[in-house]
Amino acid sequence: MKILVSGGAGFIGSHINVQALALGHEVVVVDNLSHGTRENVPAGVRFVYGDVLEPDAWTAQVGPVDAVIHLAAQISVPVAEADPLTDLKLNLEGTLRMLLTAERLGAAQFRTASSAAVYGNVSELPLREDGPALPIGFYGWSKYTAEQYVRHFAQMHKMAAVVLRLANVYGPRQRTQGEGGVVAVFCEALALGEVPEIHGDGRQTRDFVYVGDVARAFLHRLENPGPAGLYNISTESRTSVRDLFTALAKAAGAPYDGYRSAPERPGDITDSVLSRQKARAWGFEPETSLASGLQATWEYFRNKERGL
Ligand SMILES: NC(=O)c1ccc[n+]([C@@H]2O[C@H](COP(=O)([O-])OP(=O)(O)OC[C@H]3O[C@@H](n4cnc5c(N)ncnc54)[C@H](O)[C@@H]3O)[C@@H](O)[C@H]2O)c1
Repeated sequence: MKILVSGGAGFIGSHINVQALALGHEVVVVDNLSHGTRENVPAGVRFVYGDVLEPDAWTAQVGPVDAVIHLAAQISVPVAEADPLTDLKLNLEGTLRMLLTAERLGAAQFRTASSAAVYGNVSELPLREDGPALPIGFYGWSKYTAEQYVRHFAQMHKMAAVVLRLANVYGPRQRTQGEGGVVAVFCEALALGEVPEIHGDGRQTRDFVYVGDVARAFLHRLENPGPAGLYNISTESRTSVRDLFTALAKAAGAPYDGYRSAPERPGDITDSVLSRQKARAWGFEPETSLASGLQATWEYFRNKERGL
C-alpha cells in the first residue's frame, strides 16, 4: 500500500516508517520539521517538506495514496494552555485539512492519534472508549473535538477511519519535551549523570505503552481494517512514577533513590490506565514488557549521549 504519514519525521512516525517499510509498504512523509528531524525518515521513505495547514503546496508531490496516517500535531499540554489558538489550529484545523487531503488523494483509510488526555478527570478505571470524556485542558479538548470531526467526516465520505487514543507512549527517539515524556526525561538525566526530579510523591500512576507497539497499532489491519472506530492503545497496567524510576535505574545501573522530589504540578491527574478490551477485539495486543521497553529506551539514550 502507499501510505502518507503526516508528522512522520517525529517520534511515533519514525517507528511507523521503519515498520511500514519492513512490511513492504511505500511510505511518503510530510513534515514541516518544526519538531521532527530528517534522521527520523529512513532511506526508502520519500520525504516531502510541507505544512499540514497548507496541503495545496505539497499534495501534487505526493500523488494518490491508499492510506493516510495523520500524526502532525501540537503535542504539548503547557503550550496548549499558553497558546490555545495555535493548539486549536494545528490539532483541529490540521486534522480537518488532512481529512480533506486524504479524500482528495483517494485514500480509503484514515488513521490518526488521539490521547488519553481526552479522558481528563474521569475517575472510573480502566478508562473505556464508550465511557465519558472530561478533558481538563485545551489540548484534551482539541484532541477530543478532532476525534468528532474524524468520525463525522468518515461517515459522510464513506472513509474507513480509525482513531487511536494513545496512553503514555515512550521509547527511543522521544524528545524530552511534550506529552508523556517522563521516560525520556529520566533517561536523559541518567545518561548525563544528573539527578532526575519526581513531581509530588511519585505515587501517581500512568499507563506506559512502548512506541514499537503503538507503531504496530497504526499499521494493524490496514489491508482489512475491520470496523472503523476508536481504540485505546494501552497496556492496561498502572505504573507509578516512582516504580518507573526504579525500573529505569535498574536498567541504567543507577541508585534506586537517586532522584529529587519536586512540588506536585497543578492539574496533574492522579491515576490513569486505559482499557485494552476494545483493541483486543480488533485483534491488537501490545507485545513489549515495560522492562524490555525501558531497557531499549535506556540504551538508545545512553548511546546518544556517547555520540554512538
Ligand atoms: N508521545 C505521546 O506520548 C503521545 C501520547 C498521546 C498522543 N500522541 C499523539 O501522537 C501524535 C504524534 O506524536 P509524537 O509524540 O510523535 O510527536 P512529535 O512532535 O515527535 O511528532 C510530530 C511531528 O509533526 C510535525 N509537525 C508539527 N506541526 C506540523 C505541521 N503544521 N505540518 C507538518 N508537520 C508538522 C513535527 O515536526 C513532528 O515531526 C500526535 O498527534 C500526538 O498528539 C502522542
